[in-house]
Amino acid sequence: MSRVSQRVGSIPPSATMAISSRAKALRAQGRDVIGFGAGEPDFPTPEHIVEAAVAACREPRNHRYTPAAGLPELREAVAAVTKAGSGVDVEASNVVITNGGKQAVYNTFAALLDPGDEVLVPSPYWVTYPHAIALAGGVPVPVPTDRTTGFRVSPEDLERAVTDRTKMLVFVSPSNPTGAVYPPDEVREIGRWAAERGLWVMTDEIYQHLVYGTATFTSMPGVSPELEDRWVIVNGVAKSYAMTGWRVGWLVGPPDVVAAATTLQSHSTSNVANVSQRAALAALTGPFEPVERMRAAFDRRRRTMYEMLRDIPGVEIVEPQGAFYAFPDVSAHLGREIRGRRFRSVGDLAAFILDEVEVAIVPGEAFGAPGYARLSYALADADLVRGVERLQRLLS
Ligand SMILES: Cc1ncc(COP(=O)(O)O)c(C=O)c1O
Repeated sequence: MSRVSQRVGSIPPSATMAISSRAKALRAQGRDVIGFGAGEPDFPTPEHIVEAAVAACREPRNHRYTPAAGLPELREAVAAVTKAGSGVDVEASNVVITNGGKQAVYNTFAALLDPGDEVLVPSPYWVTYPHAIALAGGVPVPVPTDRTTGFRVSPEDLERAVTDRTKMLVFVSPSNPTGAVYPPDEVREIGRWAAERGLWVMTDEIYQHLVYGTATFTSMPGVSPELEDRWVIVNGVAKSYAMTGWRVGWLVGPPDVVAAATTLQSHSTSNVANVSQRAALAALTGPFEPVERMRAAFDRRRRTMYEMLRDIPGVEIVEPQGAFYAFPDVSAHLGREIRGRRFRSVGDLAAFILDEVEVAIVPGEAFGAPGYARLSYALADADLVRGVERLQRLLS
């Protein structure tokens, strides 16, 4: 019998982390592994942000705790960027600073869910949502989509999944893992549908600034006034400012959710590292040009990856429009023989690819999407090309 609790014991370790650690282990053996697994920018944090953190380290006032909900100046800055970017009328008192967007997701579910509450999670989904919901006592209800609809759900899909126990909808655009971005009218329709059903919406806007081509970012609370105050926005500096390691995110929501999340945080993590909060303040109030520069690099790599993957026989791909992931359908390669081997799942195929051609991809099973794989294009252009060429040679 397991000695750890059933609650935590029932959660599998993160599949994205698993593939990254295997790739790292092979690299440590001196092998030339190209990793498409990482969900983080390969750029260093912009210099002015690092400088602000260095200065903050030297000031003794930053060696102390901050209020549990975060530094007042940072909460102000988050309210201002949320107003500007998401079009909602919020103040510093609507903001809780968290240890990354991940803790904002966790706090939101913990603050809103009671045992048995169902949460609609469009799939393919980011691996964390179902587990964070289950840890809070809720029940994740995947709402499947596939490449034929560009991985976007419709109100009709959601209507088929809703029950009288549904409390909330998770909405993320741009999406991890699919790179899908919903057009404004679809965001509005889904918001209206959720409002009619009396649901809460948690909208994850962490990839807000990473949209490409003709795609535009639309915040559901900003275009769906019918939701009134039944929404929580999750966001953070990790992806846009190349700050994954600093661990600063936030949630923005109504006073009762903010109070509950703050209380929870006061008894769990107290507050985000003071110096990291100062760095995030510099990010949000400083020049936007570094974000634009990184976005342009991701866009270039996105086009290269899309065009190269599209050319591989048996790979079907929707052009990603946001975030930094491609999500090809590789199911045609399951069951066929590759170098004398056959594969039942993309998990098996990914392990073979890593061993055979030293390329790390993440199997779609982890995101509720068997038959697919996620490839991050947040890596150097030359490595990206070399890595996809290896896949081309193996799979053609
Ligand atoms: C969709 C989505 N939301 C939230 C996060 C959380 O990011 P962080 O905790 O690094 O701020 C991630 C990170 O992978 C993500 O992909």
